This record gives sequence, structure tokens and C-alpha cells, in this order.
Amino acid sequence: PAAPVPAGEKAAALEAIRLDIGDCTRCPLAYAGRHKIVFADGDPNARLMFVGEGPGADEDASGIPFVGKAGQLLNNMIQAMGVKREEVYIANIVKCRPPANRQPEPVEANTCSPFLLRQIDVVQPRVIVALGATAATYLLGVRQSLASLRGSWRDVRGAKAIVTYHPAFLLRDPAKKGEAWKDLQLVMAELGLTGPK
Ligand code: URA
Repeated sequence: PAAPVPAGEKAAALEAIRLDIGDCTRCPLAYAGRHKIVFADGDPNARLMFVGEGPGADEDASGIPFVGKAGQLLNNMIQAMGVKREEVYIANIVKCRPPANRQPEPVEANTCSPFLLRQIDVVQPRVIVALGATAATYLLGVRQSLASLRGSWRDVRGAKAIVTYHPAFLLRDPAKKGEAWKDLQLVMAELGLTGPK
């Protein structure tokens, strides 16, 4: 794990990463119709972090991760755990929208994800939830079915990481919501969360 960053210095350390990214042209997504670079949202001192795949149309327009339909479901999941969205930290494997919301290409994810790892090293959350296969692949370095990755803790840069279904997948297959909720209950137990008051 990286050296601890004092709580009062995390916001500035994250801002420095954002400045390094600049008006990024390091990968093809810069030329694929991107409007805004979507850095992150939430509390630099969060104990809980969520990592998605990449911005969609709403995120590309607003510059904020998970603000569209999948974001609304993620907000509901966060609320059901008994935390506020402002108390967690939310980011993606890639910071620019892939055209037509396709999965990021390996060169795109591999170019962008070092910035995410730096964000993790600053925030140093206790728990990271990888949302979907792309987050699992690039955060955990494993290429397996999501079903086989669920339910067990892994180490990601000193944080305890767990994999669950992406909210966009859950919107298409609501029958899987119960399984996602089981995953989130493991996270709640780890963080001592008891749900909405
Ligand atoms: N899907 C993602 O993976 N990330 C977002 O920010 C929005 C939708």
C-alpha cells in the first residue's frame, strides 16, 4: 500500500492528479467524441469507494460519474446501505466516454487506470466495490466471469475489494438484484453499516 495521506491533504492531492490529467489526449477516447473528462465524485476521505466502467452520455455531458439511469440505481444501492452518496467516492476505469458506450479497449483502460490507482492511493478507502466485469478486470487483474468473482474479498492497494454486478446490468436483469444486495451486505458488515435509519 502507498504511504498514508493525511485526511486534510487528500482533496489537494486529488486535485493534483486531475491537473496531471489535464485536457488528456493519451488514448483514442480523446478523439472519439468526448466532451468532459469524468474524474470522480464524492468524499476524498471516503471509507467506501465504487468503481464503474466508464462515462455514458449523461456523465460525458455533466463531467460527473453515475448521474444517468445506472447512477440512479447506484444511488439507491448506496442509500440502502445506510450511507449518503456524498460520503462515498465514485470513479471509473476510464474517464472518457467510449463511443456508443462500448467497453473500453485494453489500450484505453491500461492508459487511464494508473490515474485511478493514484486516486485510490490518495483516498485509501477501507473497501472498494468493483461494479461489473470491466472494473473487476482492470482493478483486480483477473479475467473471469462475474459470477465466479463475487462473494470473496481481494486486496487492491491495501483496500478490501469485492465485485458485484454493474447497475446498468441490474437494470437489464432485475432478477439479479438480490445477489447484488448480498454482495453489498458483505460490505455493510465490513464497515459496520446497518442500513437506513
Ligand atoms: N456506467 C459506468 O460504468 N460509469 C458511469 O459513470 C456511468 C455509467
